[in-house]
Amino acid sequence: MTKPTKSTEAASPLPAESAGAGASASAATAERVQKYLSRAGVASRRGAEEMIRAGRVTVNGQVVCTLGDKVCPGTDEVRVDGARVDPPTALWYLALNKPPGVVTTLDDPQGRTTVARFIPDGAPRLFPVGRLDYATTGLLLLTNDGEFAHLLMHPRHHVPKVYRAEADGVPDAEDLRMLREGVDLDDGKTAPAEARVVRALSDSSVVEITLREGRKRQVRRMLSAVGHPVRLLTRVGYGPIALGRLAEGSVRALSDAEVAALRASATGGR
Ligand code: URA
Repeated sequence: MTKPTKSTEAASPLPAESAGAGASASAATAERVQKYLSRAGVASRRGAEEMIRAGRVTVNGQVVCTLGDKVCPGTDEVRVDGARVDPPTALWYLALNKPPGVVTTLDDPQGRTTVARFIPDGAPRLFPVGRLDYATTGLLLLTNDGEFAHLLMHPRHHVPKVYRAEADGVPDAEDLRMLREGVDLDDGKTAPAEARVVRALSDSSVVEITLREGRKRQVRRMLSAVGHPVRLLTRVGYGPIALGRLAEGSVRALSDAEVAALRASATGGR
């Protein structure tokens, strides 16, 4: 596959810091080790606490023993399992319109196209916030801000994700009720969701579903369970961010306001 042409929006998706978001960490401020590790994308804060408890983390060669220990970014040397960990100094927040046939990872052992192909030249290593299936298209956020990514993905924060599915047939009122109230899947009943038919055709429909959880292939499984298998699936919204007119295969930088709004959607403004 050839590298897709990027839109003009993608020509220089500056890191938020360069664009003035001012969200990067100050090198001088001491912070808890678990926060440092989380910012670096090593794990969530809770995961980092487990690493500390397991004795896997050292600061300046000393094993960290307590969860209250602090480090000075840029001064102290932090390692996990012997590998040095440095949080990013410039934070990047991008929105990608993921094309179909792309894996939501940075490396694929099977050699398939990954989202790494769409990360602009000059960008640091950016991680996808959550996953879209290989065939699913649409809005995927990419960042090197580990804390931010964990915040958005935390199941307790219930950030809404909006999907548009082209499905077989047209869901009736009972199907929509089940989609909204909960569908029994093999990994349990789904949480309350929003569902509506956007367009009804003779043998297919466009259904919009808003989820506040993120299980594997959830929209596909929910629609199949009510008798309307998905033909095409696109994510059109993530919290306050809309896919809008971003072309397939293009990326754009999120604005300061968008990053702040995403953060607020996960924390409820706390
Ligand atoms: N639900 C799915 O079924 N697939 C996705 O990629 C995302 C949500």
